[in-house]
Amino acid sequence: MVNFNKKIDRSENDSRKWAGRKSYFGREDLLPMWVADMDIEAPSIVIEALKNKADQKIFGYTMENEGYIGSLVNWVEKKHGYKLFCDRIAHSPTVVTSLNLLIKTLTNEGDNITIQSPTYPQFVKQIKSNNRKVMINKLIEKEDGYEIDFIDFEEKIKNSVVFILCNPHNPTGRVWTREELSKIAEICVKYDVKIISDEIHSDLILNGKHLPIASLGKQVELLVYTCLSSTKTFNLAGIQSSFVVFPTTREKESFVEELSLIGVHEPNSFCMDMVISAYNHGEEWLEELIDHLRGNIEFAIDYIGRNIPQIKVKKPEATYLLWLDLREYRLSDEKLKGRLVEDGGLALTMGGAFMGSGFARMNIACPRYMLEDGLERLKKTFG
Ligand SMILES: Cc1ncc(COP(=O)(O)O)c(C=O)c1O
Repeated sequence: MVNFNKKIDRSENDSRKWAGRKSYFGREDLLPMWVADMDIEAPSIVIEALKNKADQKIFGYTMENEGYIGSLVNWVEKKHGYKLFCDRIAHSPTVVTSLNLLIKTLTNEGDNITIQSPTYPQFVKQIKSNNRKVMINKLIEKEDGYEIDFIDFEEKIKNSVVFILCNPHNPTGRVWTREELSKIAEICVKYDVKIISDEIHSDLILNGKHLPIASLGKQVELLVYTCLSSTKTFNLAGIQSSFVVFPTTREKESFVEELSLIGVHEPNSFCMDMVISAYNHGEEWLEELIDHLRGNIEFAIDYIGRNIPQIKVKKPEATYLLWLDLREYRLSDEKLKGRLVEDGGLALTMGGAFMGSGFARMNIACPRYMLEDGLERLKKTFG
């Protein structure tokens, strides 16, 4: 059994979440529950693989080996029941790199790209920085969670070239159902709109099953560019590795060519061994992690319900992120952030960053003692 409640120390870890407190929040003494990585050690099997790599002592230019892409193919088939083709998969350093290049290659300046709000901030950033236009399909808040407004979705898709799907969804934690994904697919096929499907959170399903949108049939598969990564799943973001699954080999090849033009097509020395060990031997660790995350979520929701009932929070179906509704306080994001920092000593990501003002995102992927501390700080701020 892995001990996910072990005391951790990231003071020398060059972690954005911890070392970035001063520059992002103005203070160093905050409990950081913001950046979406885990305050949890990576699987020991992966650490072993990295040590073995370091023991090779030479870190020259690399070349992709078969096992690297193969480990992803096996993983996706085993976990999500979807068979990928090796020759349609490209390595990419990060999902954000892929979003940027896919937007550049699939659209032209001035084109409309639809996203759903609240949204992962990089979607907006990448669209705008490439001089494309952001079309927002606002998710509808219902008693038991967020839903898609399909009438508005179709209106937006009709006028778009690309739709960026986030499945599972950050920050709401929704796992889109087969019915919802089929409807998305049907509308995108109808208007011949390509789908960039960011499925980075797909291994972190707490309730339900992940369904890759590309698996819903040939017609939609030809429109889908799926971004996947082991780094969110196994807490390896600092080493960087991700994949894009393309509809055709030709498109994969031109993407690799684009990556090579900016010199980031070769996996770094550590990432291949890291990914192979995680995908080939990390399943048991992941199952235990998911149990830990479920436990933390239950604990947090129960605590908030009993101690700070003004904060509304729904149980996420995936991810380790709680989307806290702080609108009852009727304060601006700036004021909410100020209170969290000054009164509670807590660093959360404010909702405005996700086009969700009045909310805050709390990362609960940490040992229980840290979660308890974070919840007490939340209570101190708002209780
Ligand atoms: C939906 C989503 N996509 C992409 C990323 C970033 O992925 P990468 O580190 O591979 O760029 C994140 C990180 O939080 C995310 O939540």
